[in-house]
Amino acid sequence: MSRSAHPAGPRHADVLPEGHYQAPPTDLNALDEKVWPRTVTRDADGAVRVGGIEVTRLAEEFGTPAYLMDEADFRARCRAWRDAFGDGADVFYAGKAFLSRAVVKWLYEEGLNLDVCSGGELATALAAGMPADRIAFHGNNKTPAEIERAVEVGIGRIVLDSFQEIARVAHIADRLGRRQRVQIRVTVGVEAHTHEFIATAHEDQKFGIALADGQAAEAVRRALSLDGLELVGIHSHIGSQIFDMAGFEVSARRVVQLLAEIRDEHGVELPEIDLGGGLGIAYTPDDDPREPHEIAKSLGEIVSRECASAGLAAPRISVEPGRAIVGPTAFTLYEVGTIKPLEGLRTYVSVDGGMSDNIRTALYDAEYTVALVSRRSDAPSMLVRVVGKHCESGDIVVKDAFLPADLAPGDLIAVPATGAYCRSMASNYNHALRPPVVSVADGAARVIVRRETEEDLLRLDVG
Ligand code: LLP
Repeated sequence: MSRSAHPAGPRHADVLPEGHYQAPPTDLNALDEKVWPRTVTRDADGAVRVGGIEVTRLAEEFGTPAYLMDEADFRARCRAWRDAFGDGADVFYAGKAFLSRAVVKWLYEEGLNLDVCSGGELATALAAGMPADRIAFHGNNKTPAEIERAVEVGIGRIVLDSFQEIARVAHIADRLGRRQRVQIRVTVGVEAHTHEFIATAHEDQKFGIALADGQAAEAVRRALSLDGLELVGIHSHIGSQIFDMAGFEVSARRVVQLLAEIRDEHGVELPEIDLGGGLGIAYTPDDDPREPHEIAKSLGEIVSRECASAGLAAPRISVEPGRAIVGPTAFTLYEVGTIKPLEGLRTYVSVDGGMSDNIRTALYDAEYTVALVSRRSDAPSMLVRVVGKHCESGDIVVKDAFLPADLAPGDLIAVPATGAYCRSMASNYNHALRPPVVSVADGAARVIVRRETEEDLLRLDVG
């Protein structure tokens, strides 16, 4: 297609340049329930609400950009995971996806445990009143100070990630006169079908101790020999945004095999296995995530079968979903600024945020959808790229999407499925002020993480 064949102006859906984008939606006003939080609705007059409140009102009160989080949806997802796994298993919410004191309180009330991976996450969990014995601590390079704090507060378990860490945690526990409950994280050698940067169980990466060459068995020997450690289980996490259960099956099988080897060598049956997180969510209507009950059933069956054939009593299973709980419960609300039609290409729609509030598109080539939410429009669709206001051409929020051709500066648009890894990976690039997280429930809105201010920026800059 030659560029000159197209007049300047918005690209309408019936004349598209070559490219990789989802098909234009038949109704741009429709909000697909697969990607929007559960209480999101659009009235006949076009008003979009979440938790019973119009988003235009939320924008007036809290400004844009803002992450709007549906508390009822968050709690419902926690309960779905809890109920699916039942009393014989534990669900640890992975705090790295998004953590705040309000979220910790919701988790606690809904009966979930919490996985943290830094001193900062641990401090947030403790400040919110999560009992230390319901927290697990992960990470490939926990500092001695972080380990010491965790042991001191009586953390439920530390997931050991290296030989050096086995010695380090044992030493700190000895010094504090404690016996620390630990698991060993193993790399099971599974290639998860996801982006390289979020796949974690193949061998050539920084996490865990390899099963394949006997390293994991050696780590178990060492951990069992140290008085400061109480080895309670084996941990595995194969990656993130995974839809196919096959990787989990292989992982569960290999972990159970290791339990059988430990029993044979040491006469000890470890009581726990943790199969990690990583379950995918729908970022676009094309994604088909598994429901928690299907995941629980499938993991439970594999573990029972493998244990039966190895003559082991079934261990207590735990899982660590982060994205699958919080991801779908929030969307980012932006105000449209400059709109730039590029002849023969697409229209660039700039918003008042960007890669500082959602780095996932730039980092992982993540796909998102977008909708006009401040009004209804029956204009034809145009192909757009939603970009931020940062000084970088890779500052893309939604690479290819369709919005109504009458879009104008001042309109509000929203990008759904931004609850996980958007606020938690947000930055101050270009001295952007990180957006607030506003939770909505039953017609009431509450700021749970406030917007950063220029004073916040300057407080760190000591001159
Ligand atoms: N457990 C462990 C040990 C993990 O390392 C992770 C994620 C999880 C649980 C939770 O995984 P989830 O269920 O949320 O997929 N920033 C990336 C994701 C990095 C995930 C790191 N570990 C992203 O935005 O996609």
